[in-house]
Amino acid sequence: MKKILIVGAGGQIGSELATYLRGIYGNGNVVAADLRPSERLAADGPFEILDALDAERYAELVRKYGIDSIFNLAALLSAKGEANPTLAWKINIGALTNSLEVARQYGCALFTPSSIGAFGGDFPRDNTPQDTIMQPNTMYGVCKVTGELLSNYYHTRFGVDTRSVRFPGIISNVTLPGGGTTDYAVEIYYAAVKGERFVCPVSENVYMDMMYMPDALRATVELMEADPAKLKHRNSFNIASMSFTPEIIYAEIRKRLPEFEMVYDVDPVKESIAESWPNKLDDTCAREEWGWKPQWDLSSMTDDMLRAIRAKNL
Ligand code: SER
Repeated sequence: MKKILIVGAGGQIGSELATYLRGIYGNGNVVAADLRPSERLAADGPFEILDALDAERYAELVRKYGIDSIFNLAALLSAKGEANPTLAWKINIGALTNSLEVARQYGCALFTPSSIGAFGGDFPRDNTPQDTIMQPNTMYGVCKVTGELLSNYYHTRFGVDTRSVRFPGIISNVTLPGGGTTDYAVEIYYAAVKGERFVCPVSENVYMDMMYMPDALRATVELMEADPAKLKHRNSFNIASMSFTPEIIYAEIRKRLPEFEMVYDVDPVKESIAESWPNKLDDTCAREEWGWKPQWDLSSMTDDMLRAIRAKNL
């Protein structure tokens, strides 16, 4: 990767991926693009306004900067997608198909994340295998499975270098997620630091896979830099680092902040989405094919999240 374009760079993952990639590949070689202006992203490298649904402008930016690698991160998340499924399809699939076409036409490598949300139906919830039944019952999941299939199709049919991981819920402290089912695991830390009572929208015993942002960023780059000859899978790899319920993360925070209080007000949409997703992914293929290994667990992440959010002086 020499000249990189991040589409949807203003979102939860994109905003930190831009900083991370600029640190590795050089500020001038990582173009951040988003629908909305961002002073932060424009401060240390090229920034462009881009609606990922605008194929002409997308191609124009790829030509302008001589882009060879694209990270397509423009998407609506799961709960928001259920509130407006047609909009979720339009944005998620529109950004995907434009990314695939531009990658095909200009010979770019393309990363499009999939998700734990791609699973659904009667599959093993524990140690969910790499290859299993994927019959999601959310529009977000339908878009993710479509993304995996189309990305594989572009790879086998046109030789496009498409790669992807199935991200767990991503926990971070720079840009908030929005409209996701796993968002509670970010919001709980902000409530804890602010001394507020946290109202959890998912019930106490629901397990979901989660990952701290530094591991997610490293996974993304390690996969994109992996030797293609070793990849038996491409779109998309299970990756995992931790899995917990609301009670488990609450207890972990209370070890550091014993006064912290959490109550439940279960959101039926989020609850049914969470129950349809894996409890814990089996990431053996990612470990074997490109050496994936997480570095963060719930305890080290909790220490770091509390430290970083305290430093914001909210
Ligand atoms: N974090 C996403 C969501 O909750 C899952 O990939 O929608």
